[in-house]
Amino acid sequence: MSDFYAQGQADAIANTLALPCTARRLVTVCGAQDVLAAIAWAKETGLPLMPLGQGSNVVLPPMLEAAVLKVSDATVSLLSDTQSAVTLRVGAGKGWHELVAETLDSGFYGLENLALIPGLVGAAPVQNIGAYGREFAEFVVAVHGFDLVTGAAQTLAAAECEFGYRDSVFKQGLQDRFLITAVDIKLSRTAVISIDYPVLKSRLSHRAVSAKAVFETVVALRRERLPDPWKNPNAGSFFKNPILSAQQLLDLQSVEPKVPVYPQADGQFKVSAAWLIERAGLRGCAKGAATISDQHALVLVTDGKAKQSDVLELARHVQDVVEDQFSVALEPEPRIYG
Ligand code: FAD
Ligand code: EPU
Repeated sequence: MSDFYAQGQADAIANTLALPCTARRLVTVCGAQDVLAAIAWAKETGLPLMPLGQGSNVVLPPMLEAAVLKVSDATVSLLSDTQSAVTLRVGAGKGWHELVAETLDSGFYGLENLALIPGLVGAAPVQNIGAYGREFAEFVVAVHGFDLVTGAAQTLAAAECEFGYRDSVFKQGLQDRFLITAVDIKLSRTAVISIDYPVLKSRLSHRAVSAKAVFETVVALRRERLPDPWKNPNAGSFFKNPILSAQQLLDLQSVEPKVPVYPQADGQFKVSAAWLIERAGLRGCAKGAATISDQHALVLVTDGKAKQSDVLELARHVQDVVEDQFSVALEPEPRIYG
């Protein structure tokens, strides 16, 4: 308990949108003792506990009336090793891209398409991070952590995590209830090449493809296509790509026949939110210090001095215009606090 109180008072919370935010406390969690101390503090103050990683998928308010919990464990250990696959346990504090690069160097394959996604491993299950045709759910075996009400250590098998497109139980019923401390992932010992994502295929299909080439091409594509959050603060895609029923898609195509469509396994259709935003003429649109990026229409960038209200006003405007023009609802991808 004394450690908890000794740690940061009213700390600034870093985030890639560069929004000013101060939390009542910022606490680094190393194990069960720290979790129990945090729970005791929450009971005493009546304030909530909020797990956070690197702040690359959050829209934070000026004041967060909570204790922000960050997991420090960044270890990687080998749980099992067969001729065909390895299972690794990775601490939630490990950098995601660092893990992708290190596993590839070790000859453990699978994560290449997920290179250069910002953030820490502990956040990967939360929205089931995905890119270039692969997603975290394909590799995870189990997620370990603590129940933030009882303090009990718990392990969820992958099937219990309710993974979906940019979704999981950690974003739903277990939001702020479960502190993820480690994940177990299973990777292949032979290269698994997945280049069905059109732009990846167009760059790579002309030659024999190695996992390293996929990694390097994904890194290059992301550097070309997405604004760098350290130069142009942003949270990646601000909206999810909407999922439409067959009838909703027909209605949209009757006015916009060229909208990019990605058929889903369940018979529904994902459409490109970036395309709709661009088509609505919103590229470059600004509210206060928040702007729709010139580089990618799905990304809201700030000038480093924006407030949460600038970002929310711009997001609301984009939602209203897209709803008016195309009758399509856009759902924010980052978590909006406050
Ligand atoms: P944070 O932003 O700090 O937290 C995100 C959420 O996870 C919060 O709700 C938080 O409560 C929860 N959380 C974090 N850590 C824990 C924990 N230990 N236990 C419980 N809950 C926790 N995402 C993609 O899926 N694909 C992409 O291609 C992609 N590209 C991006 C590109 C850019 C330039 C940026 C800025 C973001 C991008 N993102 C992408 C979004 C973001 O990188 C991911 O969502 C990432 O997993 C967030 O990690 P974080 O550590 O920053 O989490
Ligand atoms: N497009 C436009 N205008 C733009 C950008 C894109 O019209 O300014 C259209 C183009 O037709 C393009 C299509 O949108 O072909 C798709 O663009 P992109 O390949 O960049 O993918 P996205 O659908 O915009 C999704 C994820 C990204 C992920 C990429 C690559 C969501 C919400 N976003 O973006 O994830 O990196 O695919 O797989 O699913 C994130 O979640 O933060 C994120 C960046």
